[in-house]
Amino acid sequence: MFDRQKKGDRAVLVLPHGHAVTGDPVRRADEFAELAASAGAQVLARVSARVADPNPRYYIGTGKAEEVREAAAATDANVILVDHILSPVQERNLEKLLNLRVVDRAGLILDIFAQRARSHEGKLEVELAQLKHLATRLVRGWTHLDSQRGGAIGNRGPGETQLETDRRLLGERVKLLTRRLEKVQTQRSQQRRARLRNTVPRVALVGYTNAGKSTLFNALTRGEVYAADQLFATLDPTVRQLDGLSSGPAVLADTVGFVRDLPHDLVAAFRATLAEARDADLLLHVSDAADDERDHLQQVVDEVLEEIGAGDVPQLRVMNKVDLTEGQPRLDRDGEGRVHRVWLSAAAGQGLELLREALSEHLAGHDHIRQSVCLPLPFGRLHARLWAQGLISAEQVEDDGWHLELEASRSVLMQLAASLGGGEAEWLRSVAGPEPEPMDDDFEAAPLT
Ligand code: GTP
Repeated sequence: MFDRQKKGDRAVLVLPHGHAVTGDPVRRADEFAELAASAGAQVLARVSARVADPNPRYYIGTGKAEEVREAAAATDANVILVDHILSPVQERNLEKLLNLRVVDRAGLILDIFAQRARSHEGKLEVELAQLKHLATRLVRGWTHLDSQRGGAIGNRGPGETQLETDRRLLGERVKLLTRRLEKVQTQRSQQRRARLRNTVPRVALVGYTNAGKSTLFNALTRGEVYAADQLFATLDPTVRQLDGLSSGPAVLADTVGFVRDLPHDLVAAFRATLAEARDADLLLHVSDAADDERDHLQQVVDEVLEEIGAGDVPQLRVMNKVDLTEGQPRLDRDGEGRVHRVWLSAAAGQGLELLREALSEHLAGHDHIRQSVCLPLPFGRLHARLWAQGLISAEQVEDDGWHLELEASRSVLMQLAASLGGGEAEWLRSVAGPEPEPMDDDFEAAPLT
């Protein structure tokens, strides 16, 4: 049903530059070629196109389109991949002009997502994004076929009936998928809430695609997440327990790699990943230290994070692949002595201890409790101890007890409970809440019934 890249597609790349296209053109071109390869296409030729003033009909100029046609004929290509988001009209016009399938950047990324999605939720999200992408093309695409057939006003030919059927089916499928997704997402958010109640700190890996997130995830959790020199190897978030931190147990989520110019529709397909990033206590922002463009790519990632509402989550920068640079694993601290950057090599296993140290530093104090509580009047001894340890920030005495603003770490309350015993200890334990439980499972969405 979809304009899906088949393995073995032979592609000519069209690489626009100038006009609102940012970044180093050579790097962009290589990255787009990687995207094409990730979708299973063989890249036969690259045509760069200076687009100062986009042509509303074809996006590129007609002279350039002719050049693309010649390149395709010379190489026997069967698909044209354009590194830009085309309007449905431009895509259709180009297809007509070149007599070849044309796929734009959004279509290509969608295709890769469709191949990579593994969880039930990921698959639903991608299919939904594909259907929405298709909807705009379907409507206008059929109109275009009608007019080719000479469809005059009032001509209710079979093409149009088919179009209506397709639209209706498409609409029904979109509704069904949306409903299913809502159900899966409710389950997921319940799981997330359960995790929140457990107060296990959550850390999420984010970073530009191919920065080495999955490799680092595996190195830190001894998991077996797929790591490959391939874009978007991980589409669905995977969550595992993070061991070996002096701050206590934590969980680590691997997320989808970010790319520049992420088509807007696709941000929705990132939702599962994005929720992991947004709800995290700390983001590990992984960069490829050996990449000349790393500062720019960090900015791209920060912009996407901002866009999805994760801009305020504290970050620890990880400069990965230090083995490919002259540098050594190390920690960088800011003016206040806090670690803000760790240089390491996930693949060579160098500097992982430094990262654990930095993580422990960041996550210590995560068990901080601030609560309004009512301490029963008979617990005078505990009342005195809480004051003595400076854990009370405000107090009011009522008939039923002391109404306190309590501020303490969970571990301090537990120590106090151990030293007191009896009803007072029980009261303290109920305030401190259950001990954070280690996680032992991936948070895969449960199958639908
Ligand atoms: P996406 O799934 O596309 O987001 O990629 P990712 O960020 O998860 O990257 P991944 O872990 O798949 O690694 C990408 C490539 O970089 C793989 O070929 C890794 O082997 C390689 N790589 C990862 N870490 C290092 C490192 O420390 N040094 C070197 N030399 N290569 C590394």
